[in-house]
Amino acid sequence: MAETFLELKDIHKSFGGVQALKGVDLTIRCGEIHCLAGENGSGKSTLIKVISGAHEPTKGEIYIEGERILHLNPIIAIEHGIQVIYQDFAIFPNLTVAENIAMNRAVSTGAKLMNWKGARELALEAMEQIGAKMDPDVLVENLSVANRQMVAICRTIINDAKLLILDEPTAALTSKEVQKLYAILRRLRDKGIAVMIVNHKLDEVFEIAERLTILRNGEKISTGMIDEYDRNRFVKELTGRNISESFYEPKASEEEIFRAENIGRKGAFEEVSFSLKRGDVFGITGLLDSGRGQIGDALFGINPIQSGKIFLHGKQIEINSTEDAVRHKIAYVPEDRLTQGLFLDRSIQDNTIAASISKYFIRGKLDEQAMYQATVEWIKRIGCVAPSPEASVRTLSGGNAQKIVIAKWLNTDPALLILNGPTVGVDIGAKYDIHQILRRLAGEGIGVIVISDDLPELIQNCNHILVMKNGRVSEIVEPSEVNETELATMMSSQ
Ligand SMILES: Nc1ncnc2c1ncn2[C@@H]1O[C@H](COP(=O)(O)OP(=O)(O)OP(=O)(O)O)[C@@H](O)[C@H]1O
Ligand SMILES: [Mg+2]
Repeated sequence: MAETFLELKDIHKSFGGVQALKGVDLTIRCGEIHCLAGENGSGKSTLIKVISGAHEPTKGEIYIEGERILHLNPIIAIEHGIQVIYQDFAIFPNLTVAENIAMNRAVSTGAKLMNWKGARELALEAMEQIGAKMDPDVLVENLSVANRQMVAICRTIINDAKLLILDEPTAALTSKEVQKLYAILRRLRDKGIAVMIVNHKLDEVFEIAERLTILRNGEKISTGMIDEYDRNRFVKELTGRNISESFYEPKASEEEIFRAENIGRKGAFEEVSFSLKRGDVFGITGLLDSGRGQIGDALFGINPIQSGKIFLHGKQIEINSTEDAVRHKIAYVPEDRLTQGLFLDRSIQDNTIAASISKYFIRGKLDEQAMYQATVEWIKRIGCVAPSPEASVRTLSGGNAQKIVIAKWLNTDPALLILNGPTVGVDIGAKYDIHQILRRLAGEGIGVIVISDDLPELIQNCNHILVMKNGRVSEIVEPSEVNETELATMMSSQ
């Protein structure tokens, strides 16, 4: 049996009245890949922050390599080789790739001034190790989400990790990038490094994990070798309910909700045409640089189309700004929910009504009661785990924050709802709930466009899937005609 690197006993953590962890035991062995799974708000990130010394547990014992650590803090944790990549990557958008990668090293050696030349070399070396190709001098704010994460991974690699913890590292990656990441993690494992990874995607968990721990509602439900689990046990223990997957088959309708005719934007996409009928949940997929996300940005007026026409309910409309889009009742759930979608320091209620505040003015006064009521209802409808409408969004778990972005836009009574990566980072149960909401909205006559690279999500929930390749429509298929592998091939074949 492999040596134990870390042992946690009876860990409790509360935030005010919220008990995030209620007596969790966990062992991590050297050289294992340990998956931590649980629904949104089940306490995964909190547990990770306890391990990294960012949160002191309210109660419980921590042992690292057999030694009891009484007051673990981030510096002690780093000294013991514990490296964490958080959900939000904790990188600095206004620094370069090299500066971000070398950051920790500079902090832990106590260097007052960074040696930029050294930073560059370290960065190149780390990138080489994981096979990432980035310009070390480029500002991180100009990188894609996937590349930002590569930067975060590089940063831990150069810091001699003994335990590398990744909080939902694959949420924003394409399947190819996930494979690349997993190859890197396996290499680290072979060197004896313990890897703990948070992941919601069932297939990925079964692919990468050797051992698995499932949390629910702040408690440990089970730990075991991965082959002791099957899909049913996993889903059941995670959600506490049985969830059956089904395909979306709407009633056919001739009523057109939305049509795009040969739309294009220089450098992003061209000659894209499609049409959405009542009841359709319309999927758009493609690789990260295929133009799939830019279509969403364009239809919402962020980077408007430069050619072609769009029609809403048969009437041609012009969308040259987000104001235009909002006026025409187009709603957009952006891909980068934390920076584009939410006011983190405001309450759940402020965020939920942010895009629909005009609804609540009665004779020049805000109807507080109605706003509160609407928020309470949305929290319930979307199954958000939140203490109250007054709670700040910053205190929500990642997946629950995502649901608030969706609620915010649904509360505008949209005619067309565009969701870019609607369930990235959302747990299985919540994902199921969001999909049911989208199907229902489509049935009610709202046009629903789902931009995603989560192929099972698209196949199960859309009745048409548009595949983008190199900025052009490669194909529009019906999910009954394709399987995941074929869809993946359509996206990537030359
Ligand atoms: N700083 C905080 N203040 C108050 N409550 C918090 C704080 N951090 C976390 N919580 C609460 O603790 C619980 C566990 O949150 P945590 O972030 O650990 O969940 P998670 O399992 O990582 O979820 P997700 O999958 O959505 O990331 C949630 O109810 C959350 O709202
Ligand atoms: Mg989390």
